[in-house]
Amino acid sequence: MLVLGIETSCDETGIAIYDSGRGLLAETLYSQVELHAEYGGVVPELASRDHIRKTLPLIEQVLAEAGCGRGDLDAVAYTAGPGLIGALMVGAMIGRSLAYALGIPAIGVHHMEGHLLAPMLEENPPVFPFIALLVSGGHTQLIRVEGVGQYRLLGESLDDAAGEAFDKAAKMLGMSYPGGPLIAALAEQGERGRFVFPRPMTNRPGLDFSFSGLKTFTLNTCSEHRDAQGLIAEQTRADIACAFEEAVVDTLVIKCRRALKQESLQRLVIAGGVSANKRLREKLPEALAKQRAQVFYARPAFCTDNGAMIAYAGCQRLVAGQGDGLGVTARPRWPMEQLPAV
Ligand code: KG4
Ligand code: ZN
Repeated sequence: MLVLGIETSCDETGIAIYDSGRGLLAETLYSQVELHAEYGGVVPELASRDHIRKTLPLIEQVLAEAGCGRGDLDAVAYTAGPGLIGALMVGAMIGRSLAYALGIPAIGVHHMEGHLLAPMLEENPPVFPFIALLVSGGHTQLIRVEGVGQYRLLGESLDDAAGEAFDKAAKMLGMSYPGGPLIAALAEQGERGRFVFPRPMTNRPGLDFSFSGLKTFTLNTCSEHRDAQGLIAEQTRADIACAFEEAVVDTLVIKCRRALKQESLQRLVIAGGVSANKRLREKLPEALAKQRAQVFYARPAFCTDNGAMIAYAGCQRLVAGQGDGLGVTARPRWPMEQLPAV
């Protein structure tokens, strides 16, 4: 089954073609980062307008790269939520209408299920069941995964998502959006241990997260080290970035270990933008070695938003006979546990 995947939930237009037999045939991503840079975050209205400009030309490009035409497509998968409502509506309407015109099925995909299944596109994919840590700009969740659509939420952030915390810390250090990769790069120049930030909610039982206290701690540390002009010395900025990253990574690692132990599982999948973080990828296998647990993740480009994960997730449901009708429902909020099992 040849599936076209369309991702437009936030500030990237991701398009891909996945074949159930041959795997991923082509994919492309257009990032709106420069468009939103001067505003310090994503402006929803501008995001929608740019998705309209880019989606169809990128579909043409991907079809050409895959060496096929519109008529070869068997189905269309589009992100139906969660995300920015206007942005979602662009991809959903284009995807649904294209499928209608071609007389083929279409399905609305859950963006976080896309992230969760992205590591399946790599060599040696994980087998079910496993624990998934979903860490993106909007979500921080630990989930027990029995199969596609069989998800049990074990814990989640009570306030900011991990990616959001990275973005806010970056802003405090005078960096642009998205801040995660910038903090990570700056942290490499930092001296580990000069500052020690709290590991929130790790000294009490449970699998929930909270990053707002860490945000305040970071803000206070920045304030203490600003000079008369409001600037922070270059080395101190790097040391703060390093302390912040260590605190987030350690917190995630501790909760992942705890979840694996609680559920008696030995496979961990990390997914979403923050799973691209090098320090997290370094520390997890070390920390899990004692439990003989294995960590699985996607290549960095498939950790952040992309069309391949939507084409793949949609394909899993479409081959099982699932699909949506002609009425499109875009959902800004959408609990993953509401998804039907495959
Ligand atoms: O999954 P994603 O692309 O979009 C959402 O669904 O939210 O995640 C974006 C988030 C941003 O907050 C970004 O700062 C963070 O992922 N991120 C990172 C890294 N790369 C992206 N955070 C830490 N380290 C990274 N290398
Ligand atoms: Zn995402």
